Amino acid sequence: MSQYTQELQATAKAMMADNKGVLAMDESNGTCNKRFQQRGIPTTEEKRRAYRELLVTIPNLNEYVSGAILYDETIRQSTKDGVPFPKLMQSNGMIPGIKVDAGAKELAGHPNEKVTEGLDGLRDRIAEYYKMGARFAKWRAVITIGDGIPSRACIESNAHALARYAALCQEGGLVPIVEPEVLIDGNHTIERCYEVTEQTLIAVFDQLHLQNVALDQMILKPSMVVSGKDCPQQASVEEVADATIKCLLDCVPASVPGIAFLSGGQSMERSSAHLNAMNAKYKQLPWRVTFSYARAIQQPALDNWKGEDANVEKSQKLSLHRAKCNSAASMGQYSEEMEKQPAMV
Ligand code: 13P
Repeated sequence: MSQYTQELQATAKAMMADNKGVLAMDESNGTCNKRFQQRGIPTTEEKRRAYRELLVTIPNLNEYVSGAILYDETIRQSTKDGVPFPKLMQSNGMIPGIKVDAGAKELAGHPNEKVTEGLDGLRDRIAEYYKMGARFAKWRAVITIGDGIPSRACIESNAHALARYAALCQEGGLVPIVEPEVLIDGNHTIERCYEVTEQTLIAVFDQLHLQNVALDQMILKPSMVVSGKDCPQQASVEEVADATIKCLLDCVPASVPGIAFLSGGQSMERSSAHLNAMNAKYKQLPWRVTFSYARAIQQPALDNWKGEDANVEKSQKLSLHRAKCNSAASMGQYSEEMEKQPAMV
């Protein structure tokens, strides 16, 4: 048992509180800049800071979101009035989290596959982030479906790294969000996605056991079991909900307190509808099932902001509405009607 056991259990429970999910706003500078460029926003440190300030200061966000995942640059930044973001979040009732991986890199010897790096020096970085107020962390592994892939090497390498990361987090007082993302890219069927997601989750939990990770002190952040983006045969909302829940029930031990999905390039409405269908139909699941979305919450704010102060308030309302829809979906109470009454902007 780590000195942090009780704190980790309490943090995981708070992250998975009744109607709440987690906001992912931990895009690396590269990803953030790419999204800014697509919208003509200058790719400066100040614009990234201003955008993150817009997100963390959304009024009443804490009603729908228990915490937010920050990036290394962001956790060191402050509001224009000089309040550090982690401190502001704490005083607004949100738990600060931090992305600690160093990104998915080419896996040597395995064309078109990736392995996530960042274990070197991680113990020290976790200690620093804990001091800065972070109480949970995230590490994203990427599994690509394609001709003859994923390989066993890719799945096992990523599962190993995820488990080593998770053990280090728990040693240092951060609840690990364990994120094995099976990418939506490709023309594969939902059946193929199911197979790969199942293989991946089995490998991940095998490695978590091997590395002595306490399953009651972590959160799983998986992708949903969906048809590939370019598959001509797109599964229905109910098929996605059924396949995803079956796969998770077969692979995720009941002691895991919560599952918080990524949106993974699904449309905003689909992200809400899929989560809702799972919670509406399956009432007796062993874990809480909620969201940890980035794009499916941020997108309307980013589209509307354009880097202008004058657009901040409306952008905040648009993203708050997405958080509200996803919160409702996490309780099985979302409906298409909610999409027609957006945000009172
Ligand atoms: P999306 O919801 O945009 O997939 O992002 C979630 C995330 O944190 C990816 O690592």
